[in-house]
Amino acid sequence: MPEALQFDLALYPQPVLRKVAGPVEAFDDELARIVEGMLARMRESNGVGLAAPQVGLKQRILVLNPTGEPEDDITLINPTLVEKNGPRVKLEEGCLSFPEIYAEIERPERCKVEAFDIQGNPISGGYEGFVSRIIQHEYDHLEGVLLVDRMSPADKLKNKLALEDLIEAYKAAKGR
Ligand code: CO
Repeated sequence: MPEALQFDLALYPQPVLRKVAGPVEAFDDELARIVEGMLARMRESNGVGLAAPQVGLKQRILVLNPTGEPEDDITLINPTLVEKNGPRVKLEEGCLSFPEIYAEIERPERCKVEAFDIQGNPISGGYEGFVSRIIQHEYDHLEGVLLVDRMSPADKLKNKLALEDLIEAYKAAKGR
């Protein structure tokens, strides 16, 4: 098994989080190392999902795990959300790129995804509930769409200071 790459998290408002990610072209050892590294970063950060832009890569790669059990790891390469349906549900979401920020986000209950696995085999599946929620959140990252864009004005106000702190921290790190 190829060795996992070591990744740090890209925190809001790092510009890479706003880029539209491009398709993975090669299903090679490098991709396997990236995916292993993303899974490791997700686990170490106690996350349930991670998109490649969150580790600084403009590529269409998602990893997720709704339970924390290793056998429940899901990797989606070049995913397409072919359908979103069902009742719209409001649920609190967090994001590893927005530490300590939570907001109620409304999304359709179900989604259908077509993607490729790490070897390049096509996969497709229908998801509902928590997994569907994670997939829709992570898919947003591939389009440069972030938690802050989907927040209600009330949640934006509630998280105003935390958001400002992130922006200040980013500016301070950049200025060093
Ligand atoms: Co996120």
